[in-house]
Amino acid sequence: MKFMNLGHRDHASRYVATEMFKEIHFNQCTLLGLATGGTMEEMYKELVYLLKVNRTDISCLETFNLDEYFNLDSNDPNSYMSYMKKHFFEPVGMNDSQFHLPDNDLTDVEEDNLRYDQAIREKGPLHIQLLGIGVNGHIGFNEPGTPFDSKTRVVELTEETIEANARFFKDKEDVPAKAVSMGIETILYSNRIIMLALGEKKAPIMAKLHQMTEPDIMIPASSLFSHSDVEIVMDDEAASLI
Ligand code: GLP
Repeated sequence: MKFMNLGHRDHASRYVATEMFKEIHFNQCTLLGLATGGTMEEMYKELVYLLKVNRTDISCLETFNLDEYFNLDSNDPNSYMSYMKKHFFEPVGMNDSQFHLPDNDLTDVEEDNLRYDQAIREKGPLHIQLLGIGVNGHIGFNEPGTPFDSKTRVVELTEETIEANARFFKDKEDVPAKAVSMGIETILYSNRIIMLALGEKKAPIMAKLHQMTEPDIMIPASSLFSHSDVEIVMDDEAASLI
């Protein structure tokens, strides 16, 4: 696992966008695992710019997102579908068949999640899996205590995560209590993992992860220790306690 402090948050975002761009530009049919969150906004802006300015052919690009809130309409401005359409899918002109998010409605959710994992297994491994990190070390919405062999499924969010994500909603009460998340085993089934961590709120979890010598299920991001190609890209603030 490689920890990289790239200084200013713009440099960290630009590095990740460039790595994603190179994969898409030079590999005809790229499979990407995508993440949401405030951390990724600059990165997507830069990635969209790079794809446009280089006239990259994205007709064969296919993406699988990490997670989605449970039972939240995909048109809701806080759904991860809306986030992805706004920051990436629409600006680059992807069509509906090219992107996938875990199915989050009440009907047949378990079967749909199995199908999501199967599709990744059949098409994968993903060339790059992009990750953010929660203040409690969650990846996707895999909260502390999640077994490392978990698959895509409905999960309960912790109070800490609801609190951290409340800033995007009108009221804390509006944050859904559940989500659908790609499992840790599914995340690890990728060729390369790039995590982006920005800002001082992420400093304690970055320091903790850096100190750890072996995986602990209470810190879901420590599951990445078993993967052979992981970069943890930070800005000065996120790296400040290391
Ligand atoms: C949410 C997402 C995670 C993301 C995390 C951090 O909980 N499910 O995938 O990594 O938020 O978000 P932010 O970048 O807004 O700090």
